[in-house]
Amino acid sequence: MTDGRTMGANGGSEPVAFGRRKEDRRGRVVRVAAVGDFHVGEKDGGEYREAFARVNDEADILLLAGDLTRRGTPAEIDVVIKELQDVRVPILAVLGNHDHESGQPEKVNEALRARGVHLLDEAPFELNEHVGFAGVKGYMGGFGRYTLTAFGEQDTKTFVGTTLDEVQKLEYSLRRLSTPVRVVLLHYAPIMDTVMGEPEQIFPFLGNDRLLEPIDRFKAAVVFHGHAHHGTFRGQTPGGVPVFNVSMLRVREDAGAELFYVHEIPLPADLPAAEQASEPGVEHPSGAERAAARSGSA
Ligand SMILES: [Fe+2]
Ligand SMILES: [Fe+2]
Repeated sequence: MTDGRTMGANGGSEPVAFGRRKEDRRGRVVRVAAVGDFHVGEKDGGEYREAFARVNDEADILLLAGDLTRRGTPAEIDVVIKELQDVRVPILAVLGNHDHESGQPEKVNEALRARGVHLLDEAPFELNEHVGFAGVKGYMGGFGRYTLTAFGEQDTKTFVGTTLDEVQKLEYSLRRLSTPVRVVLLHYAPIMDTVMGEPEQIFPFLGNDRLLEPIDRFKAAVVFHGHAHHGTFRGQTPGGVPVFNVSMLRVREDAGAELFYVHEIPLPADLPAAEQASEPGVEHPSGAERAAARSGSA
């Protein structure tokens, strides 16, 4: 069952409410499954399909933290779409650097959109009135006092500008969410803690902590990112927001999961009981109807 409200991609907020989700009936948590960096190649068909299908029983929503493919070719993303074909919960995604490698990220996005995957880089997503999701790919730049600054050559300023653009996009996306609980999805790491384990020489290429400012200011409930395959599974921001490195290798080796990590988010305790009640008889739309509603064509 995939209820949700999607926010208009071009600045207009177009919430589409489809009724209350089953997690409201089941308990006061939303279960979020997350994984990135599975790097599907053209010959990987069938590798992840069964494991992805299990998300329907284990979580209320699936987050993909980028690097879905090896080189971002149309053939590879077609394989990814087939791997996701049995997933019935909403899927949200950001792309990773590998998904840009072939210079066709728009083709990758098109295929994901056609599958009904919501691209957080384009607009935030509200699962229900309690929990919303914001996300961007993020970018490199480093951490702490060693963060690269926009000084010197124009190329350096452009590089840092890319990072700052991502920070602004994340801030705007978080601002648009009206839910009390906000979840952030990135590809690049926003803290150094979760890249620890990688060679120190490449830390600046694994993320940057300028992304922390909006995360802590908007008091995100949790952050998921990928990219640092050999980093550390769990860390936290200076503001105390838990951060999970859900690159597939970390999920398998550190969380002991087959493919995705499932994180339970408690719903706010002060919600009135009526807000938690089920609504039997609510008719939920099909994936095609939701996709049509999102595109504004129905
Ligand atoms: Fe990766
Ligand atoms: Fe990556």
